[in-house]
Amino acid sequence: MGESSCDVESRVRNASLRSRIMSPQEAAKIVKDGMCVGCSGFTPSGYPKAVPLAIAERVRKGERLQITLWTGASVGPELDGELTEAGAIRRRFPYQTEERIRKAINDGRVSFQDLHLSMTAQNMRYGFYGNMDLAIVEAVAITEEGHLIPSTSVGNSPTFVKQAKEVIVEVNLTQPLELEGLHDIYIPDDPPSRKPIPIVKVSDRVGTPYIECGTDKIAAIVFCDIPDKQRPLSSIDETSRRMAQNLLDLLDLEVKAARLPKELLPLQSGVGSVANAVMAGLMEWPTDGLLVYTEVIQDSVLDLFDAGKLDFASGTSFTPSPQGAQRLYSNLTEYRKKVLLRPQEISNHPEIIRRLGVISMNTAIEVDIYGHVNSTMVSGTHMMNGIGGSGDFARNAYLSIFLCPSTAKGGAVSRVVPFCCHVDHTEHDVDVVVTEYGVADLRGLSPRERARQIVEKCAHPDYRPLLEDYMRKAESEGGHEPHLLDECFSKRLRER
Ligand code: COA
Repeated sequence: MGESSCDVESRVRNASLRSRIMSPQEAAKIVKDGMCVGCSGFTPSGYPKAVPLAIAERVRKGERLQITLWTGASVGPELDGELTEAGAIRRRFPYQTEERIRKAINDGRVSFQDLHLSMTAQNMRYGFYGNMDLAIVEAVAITEEGHLIPSTSVGNSPTFVKQAKEVIVEVNLTQPLELEGLHDIYIPDDPPSRKPIPIVKVSDRVGTPYIECGTDKIAAIVFCDIPDKQRPLSSIDETSRRMAQNLLDLLDLEVKAARLPKELLPLQSGVGSVANAVMAGLMEWPTDGLLVYTEVIQDSVLDLFDAGKLDFASGTSFTPSPQGAQRLYSNLTEYRKKVLLRPQEISNHPEIIRRLGVISMNTAIEVDIYGHVNSTMVSGTHMMNGIGGSGDFARNAYLSIFLCPSTAKGGAVSRVVPFCCHVDHTEHDVDVVVTEYGVADLRGLSPRERARQIVEKCAHPDYRPLLEDYMRKAESEGGHEPHLLDECFSKRLRER
C-alpha cells in the first residue's frame, strides 16, 4: 500500500525496525499449520485485517493450513469470516459474532470454547491452553523501544504479545495517531505474587500507554489501510424505549430508598442494539456526573458525554456504529480526556467490579421463571455469540440486571420460559429482570415468589396463562424450585 515516508517515521519510530516492513503476503508466510495465533480485536474494533486476508488467500490457493485462533472477543469479517470460509480455523476462543464462523461452530466444523472474557488472558498465562506461537496485533504506532500503541481496542493483546514467540504488527493508517495516550495497559502478576489492582476510581490510570513488546519479538510490520468494519445499530424501537423507561424507574426507586447515590454507581452495559438503547435511556436521568466502567463503549456513551451527563468511561474497546465512529474520530481530542481503554482482564476484573460497585445491565436470550438466564444458546443448542463479559459483571455487580424483550421472532417465541434449557447465569447472579412489560425485583425472594414476579411483571400477556398454568401444575408436584421436567424437555412454549 502507499504509505508515505512521513507515515513510516511517525508510525514506526525505531529506524532499525523499518527493515521489517513487508507486504501482508510475506508476513502471512510466518503462519504455519497447527499454530496457535492470538489476534488483537474486541467487537469489530482494532483487529488485524491485511494479514488474515493474505492467510485466507494462501489456503484458498490450496495450502494446508489450519490454526487455533484467539482474540479478545468478536472481530470483523476479514478475520473470522474469511478464515472460516477458507477452512483455516480449527479451534476458536473466546467469543464471536460473525455469521460464517457462527454457522461453522454450529455445524461442528470449528471447535469453539466460550469463555468468561476476564479469564482468558490469565488462563493463557497459567498455561491452561498451551503455548501461543504468534500474535498479530493492530497498532497505530510502534515506539522507539518497540512497544505497541493499540488502536480502537485492547482486549487480550498485552498477554498475547507477552506469551507469543513472535509478533506481526499491522500498523493501520486509518486509525488516527490521536488514539495514543488513551490506553492503560496493566497485566497483573500471577499467583502467588498477585497484588491488589490499584484502581479505586473509574478514571485511575495504573499502567502504561503502550503494550510492552520490544524490538526483538517483532518479526514483521505490515501497513494496512482497511478500516474497522463497524456494525450499524438498529433504531431504538418502542420495546427498547419501554425497557429503558422501566430501568430508569428501577434506578429511581433505588435512589429514593438510599441504596444508590443520585449520580448512581459506575454503569456497565452489554452489547448490541437493545443494550445501546437502554444506555441511551439514561439521557433522561435527572443528574449529571454519571460514570461508566464497562467492556464496550457504544454510541450511547458518546451521547451521554455530548449531553454532559457522563464524567468518565473506562472500557476495553470502542464499538461505535459507522455514524458513531465518525463522531468519535472527529472529536477524539475531547473524548480522550474522559476515556480509558484497558485490557479486558482489567475492564472485566471481579475485584474492581466489586470494589467500584458496578451496576451491570446485560441482555438475555431468555430468562426462566426462577431467574436463570440463557445468554448464549438459541433453543438451548445453537451458539449465538458467547457469554462475553456478562458473567464477569453479573456475578460481581452491586446490582445485576438482565434485560430482554418479552418475546422474540415477532412474538412467536416467549423469552420468559419455564425452564432455560441452557443456563449461563444462575438465579444466584440475577437480581432484577426487565422487559418492556415491567421489572421483576428478585432480591430476597424464594423461587416460588420469584416465579410469580417474573411471570406477572415481565412475561408477555399472551404467554402469562401458559406460564401460570405451568407454575400451578409444577407447584402441585412440590419442591423448592418446582418443575415438570418431563414436560420441559418434550415441549417448549413456542406457540401461543
Ligand atoms: N428464541 C429464539 N430466537 C431468539 C431468542 C429466543 N429466545 N432470543 C433472541 N432470539 C433471536 C432474535 O430473534 C434475533 O434473531 P434475528 O437476528 O434473526 O432477528 C437474535 O436472536 C438476536 O436477538 P436480539 O434480541 O435482537 O439480540 P441483541 O442484539 O439484543 O443481543 C444477545 C442479545 C443475548 C444475543 C447479546 O446480548 C449477547 O450476545 N449477549 C452475551 C454476551 C454479553 O452479554 N456481552 C456483554 C457483556 S459486557
